[in-house]
Amino acid sequence: MSFSHNPKIYVIIPAAGSGSRMGKNSNKLFMEVAGIPVIERTLKTFMDYGNTHCIVVTNEENINAMKELQETKYPCIKKVVLGGNSRTESVNNGVQALSSLECPPDANDYVLIHDGARCMLTANVINNCCEGLKNNDVCVAGVPTKNTIKIVKNGIVESTPDRSTLYEVQTPQCFKYDVLKKSYDNATANGIEATDDTALAEILGYKVAIVEGSYSNIKITTPEDIDFAQGMLERT
Ligand code: C5P
Repeated sequence: MSFSHNPKIYVIIPAAGSGSRMGKNSNKLFMEVAGIPVIERTLKTFMDYGNTHCIVVTNEENINAMKELQETKYPCIKKVVLGGNSRTESVNNGVQALSSLECPPDANDYVLIHDGARCMLTANVINNCCEGLKNNDVCVAGVPTKNTIKIVKNGIVESTPDRSTLYEVQTPQCFKYDVLKKSYDNATANGIEATDDTALAEILGYKVAIVEGSYSNIKITTPEDIDFAQGMLERT
């Protein structure tokens, strides 16, 4: 008789950024897109997906607001932890908190790291990520780049990579738990910072698969991103 093991899905949501590029003092994650705060759109997507164990990484300023969201609206949040000075530090705090959850992950359970600021994520992309982890230790949502990219040093173009080989990666960045833990422990021990979590697994020699993301899975960074996200919602 064979037993099929359904992996549990954990989500680390880094949401501790300062939002300085938004040009406001308030956290950009509490700015509204069509009447709903960015962070709530992100949380709602994971709650509606079902069976997700989420850890939200936040800053001192917003910790009470996040805990209130956990208690009143989003039971998918299993823990709220404080972030650090960089995204890598913030995610690492989330990774370390996984083992102290009431229901901690097993080695082969899935962990998706998803920027709180990417509030246009869809269930379809989450599905692609979970499918990707069936056959890979690490995968990341991405889309083929639409633009030509140049490598530039000191204002001068050094080279023009073949566009057909270039992808823009987004989040979710996805790992089996044991590989995530090894990747972040190695990064911490060696002081490695990255804007992309899966790069930390690449360093250890893991193969990272690309799964289909979405051009609408944008990161809300500057005020025009809010308008852009609202425009996309109006069209659907
Ligand atoms: O700074 P960046 O736009 O790359 O941030 C991506 C995500 O990482 C955002 O959701 C932001 O809140 C989060 N972040 C964090 N801790 C930091 C910096 C960014 O959790 N120190």
